[in-house]
Amino acid sequence: MLALSIATLLYVVARSAAVSLPFETRPRTFQPVHESLKDASTPFNFSQYNGGALEVIYMASLTVGGAEFQVQLDTGSSDLWLDTANLKPSGTQDTGLNRSITYFDQSVAAGSILISNATFGDFTVPQAFISAPGSNATNNDTGLLGVGPPKLSKISATLNATVFNGATLLENIFAANPSEPNYITFQLSRSESMGTTSGGTFTIGELNSTLSGISSAPKLDVVTPDKWIIFVDGIIVNGKNVTGNSRFNMTGQGPTQTLAYLDTGTSLAVIPRVYADAIYSSVPGAFFFAAQNAYVVPCDTKIDLSFVFGGVAYPVHPIDTVNAFANGTAPVCFGAFTVPSEGHEPPAEDFVLGDSFLRNVYSLYDFGSFISGTTPPFIQLLSTTDASAADSEFAALSAQRNASITGTVPSTGGGAGSGGGGSGSGAGSGTGGKSGASRSTMLSTAILSAIAFGVVVVLN
Ligand SMILES: *[C@@H]1O[C@H](CO)[C@@H](O)[C@H](O)[C@H]1NC(C)=O
Ligand SMILES: *[C@@H]1O[C@H](CO)[C@@H](O)[C@H](O)[C@H]1NC(C)=O
Ligand SMILES: *[C@@H]1O[C@H](CO)[C@@H](O)[C@H](O)[C@H]1NC(C)=O
Ligand SMILES: *[C@@H]1O[C@H](CO)[C@@H](O)[C@H](O)[C@H]1NC(C)=O
Ligand SMILES: *[C@@H]1O[C@H](CO)[C@@H](O)[C@H](O)[C@H]1NC(C)=O
Ligand SMILES: *[C@@H]1O[C@H](CO)[C@@H](O)[C@H](O)[C@H]1NC(C)=O
Ligand SMILES: *[C@@H]1O[C@H](CO)[C@@H](O)[C@H](O)[C@H]1NC(C)=O
Ligand SMILES: *[C@@H]1O[C@H](CO)[C@@H](O)[C@H](O)[C@H]1NC(C)=O
Ligand SMILES: *[C@@H]1O[C@H](CO)[C@@H](O)[C@H](O)[C@H]1NC(C)=O
Ligand SMILES: *[C@@H]1O[C@H](CO)[C@@H](O)[C@H](O)[C@H]1NC(C)=O
Ligand SMILES: *[C@@H]1O[C@H](CO)[C@@H](O)[C@H](O)[C@H]1NC(C)=O
Repeated sequence: MLALSIATLLYVVARSAAVSLPFETRPRTFQPVHESLKDASTPFNFSQYNGGALEVIYMASLTVGGAEFQVQLDTGSSDLWLDTANLKPSGTQDTGLNRSITYFDQSVAAGSILISNATFGDFTVPQAFISAPGSNATNNDTGLLGVGPPKLSKISATLNATVFNGATLLENIFAANPSEPNYITFQLSRSESMGTTSGGTFTIGELNSTLSGISSAPKLDVVTPDKWIIFVDGIIVNGKNVTGNSRFNMTGQGPTQTLAYLDTGTSLAVIPRVYADAIYSSVPGAFFFAAQNAYVVPCDTKIDLSFVFGGVAYPVHPIDTVNAFANGTAPVCFGAFTVPSEGHEPPAEDFVLGDSFLRNVYSLYDFGSFISGTTPPFIQLLSTTDASAADSEFAALSAQRNASITGTVPSTGGGAGSGGGGSGSGAGSGTGGKSGASRSTMLSTAILSAIAFGVVVVLN
């Protein structure tokens, strides 16, 4: 999970937690005949919380020692920690070891490493976790579950060479269910309204049957041993291909390929400046707002953007290319694909593709030899965004987002026109704007007070 503060939209890493333990599981109740039972989101209570433009998290329910936590699901880290200030797991075993995890936004989850039975969906295993009462890394959740590669786990490293099992929750689940394929899948839901709604699909070891076409998608190699990083062929903006400019040269990396970290724990995305320029600089009225590492754009900006992986183009819904926050009561919009601060580029990748991208695909993360077995780990992506349908529903979604920001009810029918309601939008969001400097000054105060991007990255 990465938390970006908008002021420092640097890069993101993910929170991690991992461990390995002996386990014990209730057998899963498989009903292979009924597809509805195979679509296993329901037992996880997979939810989205939209706390405003910059704080979108996807979470699931996890019961530990009899207490039910809502944990953010984070592909960018590999550890489990729980905010035990108000929820007290019972029957825990104290390992006597402490661990602190610091994220990119300087939030911290720290405390004792405890072990207790954890029930996640239909699975129950003994599980090591950090008990972090009052952690300031919470954001409408009561903990975080890292589902990244075990090698990234801080708990595993801390409990290594002790008698305790420091395995990650997924390692424990897969070890206890050896016939279960060791992959997970996500389809993140889209909601332009604030509050808690369904998160979409999250599964362990099985597919959403409606999206089973993902099985024939290209298998994308995972190019680092501890992070869900893959090669990107390039992007297509308004029909034009943009490629290259990688800061890396990995084994197997083509001359025009770059590296992308797929991170559900990042609300937006962080991309190289040259790509952000290609996406936003030609938008009428757009200007780069250096203090926030993002382009400011008119709210009705509709961008035709795709990412290409394994030779397949994955369109991004235009509503996901731009994000909005409230300047007082008026929406102000900015490119949801932000750039790193100079000198703070992501450490192991060119792109951090968070929820702004991931809502557009059904994604499968196969752990392969990261957990057991001999096959290399891989990622598969199935597009779930139909570019022309997205184009037609853009205005309605944009109106809905405006309404949720301003606290009004959207008029049904969604303003297709450009300058709809108009009241209170202030000077900044028009299309003229030569005076970038003064607009930036006005924006600065508004943004700094309003924005805290959701990016949680592990610092140490
Ligand atoms: C489902 O999640 C929501 C929050 O996302 C929580 O309020 C609710 O208690 C959970 N329900 C169950 C049955 O776990
Ligand atoms: C954990 O679960 C196992 C099997 O269900 C049970 O035998 C054990 O007593 C549980 N431990 C605790 C601390 O609840
Ligand atoms: C763990 O943290 C607790 C509470 O802060 C402290 O009392 C204890 O000494 C720490 N243990 C270790 C091994 O550092
Ligand atoms: C979170 O708490 C830690 C102390 O535990 C503090 O050092 C840090 O500055 C806090 N971070 C935020 C973002 O409030
Ligand atoms: C999350 O936000 C909802 C409002 O959408 C609120 O009712 C709930 O108490 C919050 N939960 C936590 C754990 O902060
Ligand atoms: C655990 O320790 C062994 C031996 O020192 C080392 O090879 C291994 O990499 C360590 N594992 C982790 C997760 O740190
Ligand atoms: C499976 O995916 C379809 C299409 O996105 C969705 O409508 C359905 O709710 C998903 N099912 C589950 C259980 O997540
Ligand atoms: C990348 O490394 C390979 C050898 O590992 C080398 O042949 C190639 O020229 C390098 N490419 C760039 C762009 O540095
Ligand atoms: C642009 O990228 C697409 C997808 O990779 C590819 O099919 C097409 O040939 C490329 N076009 C050019 C002009 O390179
Ligand atoms: C949303 O609000 C912005 C800023 O006031 C405005 O420019 C835009 O037209 C609005 N969009 C819709 C669909 O109402
Ligand atoms: C933000 O709100 C202030 C005060 O209402 C206004 O002066 C300013 O023009 C607004 N900025 C933008 C970019 O809309």
